[in-house]
Amino acid sequence: MKVLTVGGGGREHAAVEALYKCGAEIYSVMKNTNPGIIRRSRGYKIIDEKDVRAICAYSREIGADIAYIGPEAPLDVGLSDSLEEIGVLCAAPTKEAAKIETSKLFMRELVDKYKIAGNINYTSFRNVKDAVKYVKDVDYEVVVKPVGLTGGKGVKIQGEHLHSVDDAVRYVNEIFSTSIGKYGIIIEEKVIGEEFTQMAFCDGKRIEPMPLVQDHKRAYENDTGPNTGGMGSYSDSNHLLPFVNEKDRDAALDIIRDVVNAMNKDCREYRGPIYGQFMLTSEGPRIIEFNARFGDPEAMNVLPILESDFADICYRMATGTLTQSVKFEKKASVCKYVVPEGYGIKPISEKEIFVDEEGIRSVNANVYYANVNQKDGKLLTGTSRSLGIVGIADTIDEAEESCENALKFVRGNHIFVRHDIGKKELIQKRIKHLQKLRLVQNEKSGN
Ligand code: AMP
Ligand code: GLY
Repeated sequence: MKVLTVGGGGREHAAVEALYKCGAEIYSVMKNTNPGIIRRSRGYKIIDEKDVRAICAYSREIGADIAYIGPEAPLDVGLSDSLEEIGVLCAAPTKEAAKIETSKLFMRELVDKYKIAGNINYTSFRNVKDAVKYVKDVDYEVVVKPVGLTGGKGVKIQGEHLHSVDDAVRYVNEIFSTSIGKYGIIIEEKVIGEEFTQMAFCDGKRIEPMPLVQDHKRAYENDTGPNTGGMGSYSDSNHLLPFVNEKDRDAALDIIRDVVNAMNKDCREYRGPIYGQFMLTSEGPRIIEFNARFGDPEAMNVLPILESDFADICYRMATGTLTQSVKFEKKASVCKYVVPEGYGIKPISEKEIFVDEEGIRSVNANVYYANVNQKDGKLLTGTSRSLGIVGIADTIDEAEESCENALKFVRGNHIFVRHDIGKKELIQKRIKHLQKLRLVQNEKSGN
């Protein structure tokens, strides 16, 4: 099967490795020279991932059977629709179906309209005056978000990034004064709990779940600093998380199933990987966001342990023929992203980074290249996340140790890593936080 892959990040490198493992003929397009993707590709082209015409032309040239599209930006400009028009199957949603991610307002309204569980209080605004009045009057803590795509960096939370009503007012004004505000803003109730990611393969009708993962959005250790695309993530060998039991996981899966059914009723059949971000509260999971793709870094946790043939799954998602046969190894994983110094605020890029791949393999870990460029025999960092190191083992502790051992084989003067991800202390903190929330809830309800 000739597969065209779109995207040059760590998530796409992990997808390319999974396709390579099952013998797919890979051709790729990306905007950076990702050495991990290039080495597995029979051909590749450096193109802007939103350049629909150029990608369709390349797809025709190579005679692609199917496309795998990693990032959200090409979905938002209708790449799947255009590829399907020229006869290429797509393991990714159409522009209309991708609205589940590209419009936070569409997602909240869909969940409300079909009375799906897990929604939270929200209000949307198209003008600055009403939004400012709202943040001044509201009597609970809020989260301020632009409605459209922001690469995971546009969300600001009261009490964490916004320390007063004035801060919130300033941020509302800032959003409306730039193009980020062109689709308006959404102001949500701040939900307290612990976050987890549930992803699933979807063929338009049915979903096949992937193991749960927990990402770490904040730039610095102990969950401080600005929000980022995600600094690292872990998963457990039982495919749950230390603070998420089967009942909570099943509740999240029911929500995803209901969303897929609602999309059908709304004439936006959803095909491709679907991503649910949930906050586990004392009353069960609440929806934080949906993505129309794999998570990044989460894809690096689950794709290396996928036992089933990924190319076949892509074909089945694209053709509505998914079966119950999707299997994952019973392994834990810990992923830590190596990022350029200043990432999340003002990244220092174009610096050389050295990777000893053999060393990384020797400690049973994987490396997935992301926003780097191979130039004149050197590997240079870009402004976004550079590469993901993933340890895989029987337990989270062992996977974390293997990830840390592997990180010693990555060198550079202007890079940093959140070392606390996957460590016992941070996981214990999350477990305790939920226990405390449940205790308070029980006291409130008199149990
Ligand atoms: P998003 O881009 O919507 O995923 O938001 C980025 C991060 O902000 C999420 O991963 C959460 O950690 C946090 N966040 C977003 N919405 C809320 C909310 N309503 N309550 C609490 N935290 C939130
Ligand atoms: N890890 C969060 C995302 O992919 O949006």
